[in-house]
Amino acid sequence: MEKWIRARYQPNLPLNGSQRVTASPEHIALSRRAAQEGAVLLKNDGNLLPLAPDTRVALFGKGSFDYVKGGGGSGDVTVAYIKNLYDGLKEEGVSLYEPLSDFYRDYVEKRYEAGDVPGLMAEPALPQDLVDSARENADVAVIVLSRFSGEGWDREPVFYQEPDYPWPDELNMPRKAKDIFPRGDYYLTGEEQRVVNQVRAAFDKVAVVLNVGGVVDVSWFWEDDRISSALLAYQGGMEGGAAIAALLTGKANPCGKLPDTFARDLSDYPSTEHFHDSPHYVDYTEDIYVGYRYFETLPGAAEKVCYPFGFGLSYTSFSLEVLKAGEENGTVQVQVRVRNTGDRAGKEVIQLYFCPPRGLLQKPVRNLAAFRKTGLLAPGESETVELTFAVSDMASFDDLGKIAPSAWVLEKGRYALYVGNSVRDAVELDYAWEQAETEVLVRLSASMAPSHLSKRLLGDGSYEDLPAAPAADTVENLFQPLTTAQAEGVAPATPGRGRYMLAQPYAPGVQPLSAVAEGRLSLDEFMAQLSDGDLIHLLGGQPNVGVSNTFGLGNLPEYGVPNLTTADGPAGLRIQPEVGVCTTAWPCATLLAASWDPELPAQVGAAAAAAEVKENNISVWLAPAVNIHRSPLCGRNFEYWSEDPLLTGKLAGAMVRGIQSQNIAATVKHFACNNKETNRKYSDSRLSQRALREIYLKAFEIIVREEQPWAIMSSYNVINGQRASESRELLTTILREEWDYAGLVMSDWWTRGEHYKELLAGNDLKMANGYPERVEEAIKLGAISRADLEICARRVLGLILKID
Ligand code: BGC
Repeated sequence: MEKWIRARYQPNLPLNGSQRVTASPEHIALSRRAAQEGAVLLKNDGNLLPLAPDTRVALFGKGSFDYVKGGGGSGDVTVAYIKNLYDGLKEEGVSLYEPLSDFYRDYVEKRYEAGDVPGLMAEPALPQDLVDSARENADVAVIVLSRFSGEGWDREPVFYQEPDYPWPDELNMPRKAKDIFPRGDYYLTGEEQRVVNQVRAAFDKVAVVLNVGGVVDVSWFWEDDRISSALLAYQGGMEGGAAIAALLTGKANPCGKLPDTFARDLSDYPSTEHFHDSPHYVDYTEDIYVGYRYFETLPGAAEKVCYPFGFGLSYTSFSLEVLKAGEENGTVQVQVRVRNTGDRAGKEVIQLYFCPPRGLLQKPVRNLAAFRKTGLLAPGESETVELTFAVSDMASFDDLGKIAPSAWVLEKGRYALYVGNSVRDAVELDYAWEQAETEVLVRLSASMAPSHLSKRLLGDGSYEDLPAAPAADTVENLFQPLTTAQAEGVAPATPGRGRYMLAQPYAPGVQPLSAVAEGRLSLDEFMAQLSDGDLIHLLGGQPNVGVSNTFGLGNLPEYGVPNLTTADGPAGLRIQPEVGVCTTAWPCATLLAASWDPELPAQVGAAAAAAEVKENNISVWLAPAVNIHRSPLCGRNFEYWSEDPLLTGKLAGAMVRGIQSQNIAATVKHFACNNKETNRKYSDSRLSQRALREIYLKAFEIIVREEQPWAIMSSYNVINGQRASESRELLTTILREEWDYAGLVMSDWWTRGEHYKELLAGNDLKMANGYPERVEEAIKLGAISRADLEICARRVLGLILKID
């Protein structure tokens, strides 16, 4: 097909042959397999699971029908159907106690008719006679709990919004959530607790299924002998219920591992106490001690964990034998033989952690260095896996210059290595890396230092004072900033082209962009033809075309520049329901992370998401989203992968590879520190340079260095006083100069940043629309030059040239 032909004519053609790939049976089957691969078996006392053949099951909880396929907002997907657990178990031929299911089906249908969305409805009171009759007619009780959260609000909602904010759901949803979950949806509601009490009093065989987007309270079954089994099924996409049924019946064997630590209580996470101190800022006082780095390191914190990072059971068992461990040319290599010692086929995940010497910079005592998932091993079968990582990956960032200022340093001493199948079960190897002398690996500039974070946590539980950098003026601007009413939800203008002859589509002398694509013209020569106004036009979002609803880029028809459109991401190609095109809903990113298998997101990204994106004539997919799970309370955690940057970077990086293998642009978002949704366009994330480098930027760095994504989306929030989209230190010094990023940076949709300031920072494209008149004014005032515009325009055109 001729270049950009889909984007120009929007032909509604299948990508391959006569069959559309969008929501094809193959894609839906892959979505279901993915949902199986990431579910985590948390508990299985007495091997209650898998259910013995002919087990009669009673399904409790409105979650048995109210299945939540994924979270809300831009991470939502329009689908033809959703399979809940009832549907899934019926397909597997499991005998269910129907009167109980009738009760829940009726209730859920009525609530949906009344306007409730999946996961945001109260648990109905359960009549005791229904429990008694279920007890008479079933052998095993399965309790299903579901949860929903979404963009623009957090899981312990507070109601804070700018005046004139035009998106009512960002207040309606949290209000609803607060009514249903008065303590926040982390905990069971009173009604859910009553159902649990009724069921465990009546049944001695009880299993729990959690259909959730992230970390929730698990202490109630963790310490309860009357509940034998628990499956953390996450939000598994459109076929999630079928995937869970396959796991409960033993058709598939759980092989997911936790990408996050599950503690006893919400208050055990160091981020909880101050999460909602202010809608205007968040102090990241826990510093680098996020997730297991906190729970494994801080004195007394280990006892607060119910299920540690990396943990997950199987219906079979495995033995691990370390065959070799050593270092060659700066790479540590560990070889492990994994044997299936049980009686069912299964997969295991081998995890390698390092414990650095304490040194002058205190450090977490466990850090994930490498991991590998085996193939499906038959009983008795073994596989040898090799885990490798660079010695330099063990470096720490010295932001206070204890060894060298703003440098990655490897302190001298013993770096012990641990191998196992969770952070807790990893066993120390005989081999350790001995760093003879403290080494400064690379010196960088001090960037993005905090001005308002006075102290940070250290590994021994004490706090260290932080010097205050000069405060940035967040709102400094040549112009009166736009108000919310002027800036939020504005659609780009649709400029007309005027009359032209079809036989002579371009003005005399104009060479179209296709001449660059065909190698007849350099990009610089092409850009030399453009006026300042043309360049500015390229630096803002463009109108929707076809099925897109998140706008486009390019769109200079006088010069043959197509309008390439964007779409969300990340749970599938999101097309507005009214368009009538259904797509595949994939499992949420946290579930994909729990697979610990890069192959899986690579397949989801390629065969699926990008192919569907392309088939629907869209060119830029707004995924993956790789912010770190700092707190269980962040409303968008379901879109993000893990508390660990390496797991996030490797798996989301594989997704980027998959997407771009189809010549569709991946957009890695939200760069950076967008770890809270409340007041997200203003909230200031205050953190040390060390936490920024080691935790919050690390996944982005891994993806940039290893996969060179074509696009990155800067985030809405402020970081240490500077808007992310206006931060030159973030978007140019760190991203481009340090990491050699060559792609495009776009803003998130309708930021509060000023267009000319964003361009100067290296944010090339303002979405969803630009403000040409303000940029022109800034040129007149001498604040920005044509050369500055060319830098950004070159990246916009560079991206367009990569698309088919
Ligand atoms: C979200 C982005 C999304 C964009 C376009 C924003 O509100 O933060 O993740 O890609 O909208 O829908």
